[in-house]
Amino acid sequence: MKLVGKAIPHESAPLHVTGQALYTDDLLPRYPNALHAWPVQAPHAHARVLRMETEPALAVPGVVRVLTARDVPGLNDSGLKGDEPLFPEEVMYFGQAVAWVLAESEEAARLGAERVEVAYEPLPAILSVEEAIRQGSFQGATLEVRRGDVEAGLRASARVLEGRLELGGQEHFYLETQASIALLDESGQVFVHSSTQHPSETQEIVAQVLGLPRNRVTVQCIRMGGGFGGKEVQANPYAAVAALGAYLTGRPVRVRLNRLQDIVLTGKRHPFYARYKVGFSEDGLLNALHIELFSDGGWSQDLSEPVMARALCHVDNAYYIPNLRAVGRVCKTHKTSQTAFRGFGGPQGMVFIEEILDRVARSLGLPPEVVRERNFYRREGSRNITPYGQEVKDVERIQLIWEELKRSALFEERRLEVAEFNQKNPHRKRGIAITPVKFGISFNFTAYNQAGALVLVYQDGSVQVNHGGTEMGQGLHTKIQQIAAEALGVPLDAIRVMPTRTDKVPNTSATAASTGADLNGAAVKLACEKIKVRLAGVAAQRFGVNPADVVFENGQVWSLWKPEERLSFAEVVRAAYAQRVQLFADGFYRTPGLHWDKARMWGKPFHYFAFGAAVSEVEVDGFTGQYTLRRVDILHDVGDSLSPLVDLGQVEGGFIQGLGWLTLEDLRWDEKGQVATRSASTYKLPSFSELPEVFNVWLLPRATEPGVVYGSKAVGEPPLMLAISVREALKDAVAAFGGGGIVELASPATPEAVYWAIEKVRQRALVTGD
Ligand code: MTE
Ligand code: MOS
Repeated sequence: MKLVGKAIPHESAPLHVTGQALYTDDLLPRYPNALHAWPVQAPHAHARVLRMETEPALAVPGVVRVLTARDVPGLNDSGLKGDEPLFPEEVMYFGQAVAWVLAESEEAARLGAERVEVAYEPLPAILSVEEAIRQGSFQGATLEVRRGDVEAGLRASARVLEGRLELGGQEHFYLETQASIALLDESGQVFVHSSTQHPSETQEIVAQVLGLPRNRVTVQCIRMGGGFGGKEVQANPYAAVAALGAYLTGRPVRVRLNRLQDIVLTGKRHPFYARYKVGFSEDGLLNALHIELFSDGGWSQDLSEPVMARALCHVDNAYYIPNLRAVGRVCKTHKTSQTAFRGFGGPQGMVFIEEILDRVARSLGLPPEVVRERNFYRREGSRNITPYGQEVKDVERIQLIWEELKRSALFEERRLEVAEFNQKNPHRKRGIAITPVKFGISFNFTAYNQAGALVLVYQDGSVQVNHGGTEMGQGLHTKIQQIAAEALGVPLDAIRVMPTRTDKVPNTSATAASTGADLNGAAVKLACEKIKVRLAGVAAQRFGVNPADVVFENGQVWSLWKPEERLSFAEVVRAAYAQRVQLFADGFYRTPGLHWDKARMWGKPFHYFAFGAAVSEVEVDGFTGQYTLRRVDILHDVGDSLSPLVDLGQVEGGFIQGLGWLTLEDLRWDEKGQVATRSASTYKLPSFSELPEVFNVWLLPRATEPGVVYGSKAVGEPPLMLAISVREALKDAVAAFGGGGIVELASPATPEAVYWAIEKVRQRALVTGD
């Protein structure tokens, strides 16, 4: 009975559904004398702080202290690139916190913050990508992926198309907003509870702000109510404020943003803008692509550069592009600092190439799925090499998944049904599309691809597992529990996965890039195996056999020679203790074979690729642009699933989150640079009503990935990009309102955007008589 690969519920599922699972802010009652923090927020997108008067706030009953730049003992910066002052002199976006008020209650802190008097000198603000490009307002380096000769390729192409597309941002809308509680102990050590995907970096930032060595700062994350990339770096400033408050007052300090503050203060998915020129043959084979990507990075660098790098490494998606020049620039604007968000730029890169292929197909009058398939890697001359020099391992899976999915989703039959429906219905049209996903797994930055674990076995045979990964709902701890139980040969309930703490495993990477299970799982497995080897020695002595012949399974230990003679795991552990054998071990893993030349954008940045494909079918109303998602079929490759229920949830959840980004979630900013969509009432999130009527998800069978823990593959982000099929299906339906040709659909494809796309198609049909 294998525990890895077993379909079990999330390890905290009962706690989640009964409301008993604790999140950072739920710990507050444990600290009755905690102070509450409230930000003083600037009412300008760009301004200089001329003066600040904090005295009036102190007159509010309950206000204890106002934190300003003068209070920072270390460095007044909550980032690692020196461009994120915690208490700024220059306001860089609307609502930025310029000071924080600490008080006995949240209400007192809020009233205090209202009384802080700040004089600003407003400065001109850059509020759009176009404006940033016009003014040359950029941050970080210009990144470029280049292969072949694009100019010559374009000249040699039978056809050339030019176009542009803008993609909106996306609010993370994790259910748990940014939260932190910091404590100071009697010896001057700082302990920070933080809802962070990257406890080690949170520790680093807290230490930096307080001017302390890192060994005096401990950060713990019990679990997050969602991170989605939004807590990869952006938990840090709030942890730093809490820690600074605790450090200065000696009292516990709690920072917890309310929803409004969270939306106004924190960064989002990067909006992107692309312009391109593509050359192709009469058969729709891509020959050359020149594409320029611009992202709206907001006010600070944050993760914008690596996000752009991942976008550039995914504009190929599953397709071979012989001549490519992809250039990326991050615009600096006076907006929230855009940051990691599930897919990390990959989704943006992929939407662009899918858009381009759709246009190529429609300009030739070919079905888009035919043009897509023709361009897959493996086509003649590709040698399966990506534009950044990495071979696409298991490239045949792209075609395999494509064909399997088309078969199981009845794609060809439904194509005909859709055409028939559209024949009969002048005012309602259906559309269907299939799109592939190829997503690179590993951090582009090679050094991040390492992980550690510390496994402790107690004398009763029970086990604690510590590792560097954080749990944000994605099921990492469930997978770790399965891995540890499998590796030690004990039942699942013998394993306790501990909250993530920087004093158990140091210098960890963010739980991000979907690598949580790959990296930490491998480290945990190695630690468990060390312990098992020692225990096997002890048991072998008892059985009088070779250690290699000792079996550990489900809490029992026996030898191949005499399977009926059995010891319990606890008995072996006790015997080991008596013989003074070490019952705990560390594990350390680093992904082998990676190298990346950042300047040339060349190398092998990814350990492997995750593959998948989705078929979506929609029905659109020609009068309103409103639509329904009739059916979705997904075939996704997770290798040998570590935990099939968890993986299914990740595929479904990722898809729906992608659907939200591409069809519903419409972030608006007003002319002052203020986020206008600041709550769930104005920012439409996907919910039950947007679920497809039929939703089939299959995991690719027989998909063992050698060289990854138990043959599995990462699953956290790749499925988000399966939702591109919905956007493409909408275009397919829109096209049916006209007489063929290119469809121009804005993103997000809200009903309004779909309506305008239909109008354009209809107008063209009128003019050309098509
Ligand atoms: N799933 C849930 N339920 N909540 C989350 O916050 N984050 C996603 C993904 N799935 C997220 C999630 C993101 S952005 C990443 S990178 C991965 O989970 C991180 O976890 P993993 O590496 O363990 O897959
Ligand atoms: Mo995920 S965007 O890598 O946290």
